[in-house]
Amino acid sequence: MTEHTVSFVVGRLGDLIVQEAFLLSGVTDKVQQMLTEMKRMKTRIINITNSWETYCIKNITKASATSKSQIQRRLRETNPIMEDDNFIGLDKSIDILLKELMEERRLCVVSIVGIGGLGKTTLDKKVYNHIDVKRDFNCHAWVFISQKFERKTLLYQISKQFGYEADQSMEESDLVVKLRTFLENKKYFLVLDDTWSEDAWSILKVAFPNGKRGSKVLLTTRSMIVATFADPWNLYNEPCCLSKEESWELL
Ligand SMILES: Nc1ncnc2c1ncn2[C@@H]1O[C@H](COP(=O)(O)OP(=O)(O)O)[C@@H](O)[C@H]1O
Ligand SMILES: [Mg+2]
Repeated sequence: MTEHTVSFVVGRLGDLIVQEAFLLSGVTDKVQQMLTEMKRMKTRIINITNSWETYCIKNITKASATSKSQIQRRLRETNPIMEDDNFIGLDKSIDILLKELMEERRLCVVSIVGIGGLGKTTLDKKVYNHIDVKRDFNCHAWVFISQKFERKTLLYQISKQFGYEADQSMEESDLVVKLRTFLENKKYFLVLDDTWSEDAWSILKVAFPNGKRGSKVLLTTRSMIVATFADPWNLYNEPCCLSKEESWELL
């Protein structure tokens, strides 16, 4: 009986070992195939990397990612030029904003807050180019802030537009001091369009003194937090919604 059982178990084990060996030989084949494939891929990668050097291409991934974000920024960048003047229903918003901007108070930040596409930049442009603003302020500047910005670049852009030609080799801290001094006795008007971060004005403001009474910063943002952070004591103007008649006119 025991002999029979042992011989049965040994027989089954033998079958299992044969099966395992069969399966393992299948796996070995597969592993061999994968190894060959990986060697082929490695050779291909080495060839591609060598061809970069042949064609003088360096850091291709990094370069393309940077230029892509730069191109996207360029495409979104705004400026104060009025290309079109067929705007409807802006008069009320312009009046409210102008009243706010003409107040002869200490330097303050006036914010236009509203969702994307509401007409904030359009309102900015209208006000920036308004005859009263052109006449009443000694110098004007418009910068596009967006999500990513560099303080030094922005300060150069602003200085230039205000009429102070800063030396490109100047240290950032010197630029801050020079710009402050330049603006000390001026009534200036600065637009910070499309501001996303509450830090933007915080890190820029060191370069902006109170100036002459009535100097203003006009900031546009989608975020009430950004606007509140910039100046909590101010009115926030959203471009007014169109009336029924104005909406038909727009269509
Ligand atoms: N009052 C208006 N009448 C007609 N078109 C307008 C008006 N306001 C804005 N637009 C148009 O709507 C689009 C979005 O306006 P924009 O000022 O860029 O919005 P935001 O800055 O709030 O994202 C632009 O093409 C602009 O010309
Ligand atoms: Mg805008």
